[in-house]
Parts: sequence; structure tokens; C-alpha cells
Amino acid sequence: MKGFRGKVAVVTGAGSGIGRALALALAARGARLAVSDIDPAGLAEFDPGVHTATLDVSDRDAVVDYAATVAAHYGVVHQVYNNAGISGGGQSVLDTSWEVYEKTLAVNLFGVIHGTKAFLPHLIASGDGHVVNISSLNGFLAQPTLSAYAASKFGVRGFTEALRTEMLVGGHPVQVSVVHPGGVKTNIASATGSDLTPAQAARVRVYNEKLLTMPAAEAARIILDGVEAGRPRILVGRDAKAVDRLVRLLPRRYPALVARYERRLFGDA
Ligand SMILES: NC(=O)c1ccc[n+]([C@@H]2O[C@H](COP(=O)([O-])OP(=O)(O)OC[C@H]3O[C@@H](n4cnc5c(N)ncnc54)[C@H](O)[C@@H]3O)[C@@H](O)[C@H]2O)c1
Repeated sequence: MKGFRGKVAVVTGAGSGIGRALALALAARGARLAVSDIDPAGLAEFDPGVHTATLDVSDRDAVVDYAATVAAHYGVVHQVYNNAGISGGGQSVLDTSWEVYEKTLAVNLFGVIHGTKAFLPHLIASGDGHVVNISSLNGFLAQPTLSAYAASKFGVRGFTEALRTEMLVGGHPVQVSVVHPGGVKTNIASATGSDLTPAQAARVRVYNEKLLTMPAAEAARIILDGVEAGRPRILVGRDAKAVDRLVRLLPRRYPALVARYERRLFGDA
């Protein structure tokens, strides 16, 4: 069945940014919602009928319990949007701490694995399931100071594409989409923290002013149109589409081009 009317949709990281916009757009298209976030502050504005929960997607047991709770609440689950994510610091490999690598992979990659695996039996049982995993343009392009983020987002892409092949081989009634947004105007860069080096703070400023420009509502519309059309790969924004072409045309040369672009954009920061 096409469309969202009456579908039960789960959105993680729904307290702000793309997740919040996705949840609002899903509600506007007639879906029944289960929204969660590690920070419950942003969930207060959802209608009382919406199932809300405080959830850390990196906590495997909590996600498994949450899937059972949502399935019991609605009796069925059709769609999961594994959206919660963090930026991973913005420092070089030399300077990034082990803890930042562990946390970024725990949230961005394991969060997606937890949400997918915990809900998958319910999606199959629904007879009309859809897994939507949010990667990034950094799921196919690597950049300086984003090694943790890129590792997690390339990982999301690999995990999601493997799942798609399994659903096809097994003939399961579950579609699978990986989403690669370009720059979307959200808090993700600023959420890096307040204890930043001057170089990190300068990068956050440039990201917020020059790169994260698409309104979250527009990103949500593109994602839901892609989901409705059953697209396995959803590119969000002209930047994501251009970068996708670049890395496929120049797989060996693109790191040198990225290095030149970075020096122009950030100087030596
Ligand atoms: N904004 C962009 O330009 C952009 C580009 C590509 C991909 N993305 C991806 O989109 C997704 C949403 O990011 P956003 O830009 O809306 O950022 P955001 O910071 O506005 O929203 C992320 C949300 O996830 C929540 N969150 C963080 N850690 C969590 C955890 N452990 N468990 C549950 N919730 C947690 C935050 O509280 C926040 O509400 C992320 O996966 C991000 O990597 C964003």
C-alpha cells in the first residue's frame, strides 16, 4: 500500500532538526507516530496522541525494550526512521580521542543497527514494512576532521544496503532506503559541545553559515517523497547529488580536491 495514512512510523532523534521535521511531516501525511530522543525537551510539542519516549539509541537493551513497547502500543509497526545522530567532534585523527570514536560509532552506527534489528520482525509481520536509515553525504565522501562521522555514515550505508539485499533474497515485505542528506540547517554542528578549541569553533561557524543551509522541513519532504516512491537511495540536496557524482567519476582524485576545497573554506583551521 502506498502512502502514509494509518501507518505506524517510528522516528528516533525526533526532538530536533531532521527527525522533528520528519515526524511532523509524517503526522501531516496521516501516519501514527512513535517519537523518541535522548533529550525529551523537544518532544513536548507533539500532539498528546503521539507515543513519546526518552531513548538513547546507543543503549541496545533500551532499544529492544522500546521496540516491544511500541509494537504492543499500536499492535503493528510499519516504518522505522533511524535518524538520531551526532557530528563526532570535528578534529583530526591525531587529535580525536578514543572516547569520541566510541561514542560516535555507538550512536550513529550502532544506534541504526539497534533500531533496525529490534524493529525488523515487527516490520516483516506488518506485511508492508520500510526501514529508512539516515546516513549522510559523508556516507560516500570522506572529509578532514570527520573521520569518526564518516566511518559511522559509510557504515550505515553498508549495513543498510546489506539489509536490502537480504530482504530481496528472502522475499520479505520490507523496503529499505538509505538517505544521504547534504547540508541541512539544524543544530548538529553546534551540538558538538561548548568546550571547543578555537579551530573547532571556527569550523562550526563555517558549517552553520555556509554549508548547513537547506530547511529541515524541505529535507523531510524530499525524504518522505523518496520513501513513498520506494527509492532505495535518497539523495537530499544539490550538494549531495554533486558530491555523489564527483566520487563516482573521480574515486582516486577526490581526496585531493576535497583537501583544496577545505583549505579554501577553513584556511588552516
Ligand atoms: N544537518 C545536516 O546537514 C545533516 C547532513 C547529513 C546527515 N545528517 C544526519 O541527520 C540526522 C539528524 O541530524 P540533525 O541534523 O537533525 O541534527 P540535530 O542535532 O538537530 O538532531 C539530532 C537529534 O538526535 C538526538 N540524539 C543525539 N544523540 C542521541 C542518542 N544517543 N539517542 C537518541 N537521540 C539522540 C539529539 O538530541 C537531537 O534531537 C543525523 O543522523 C545526522 O548525522 C544531518
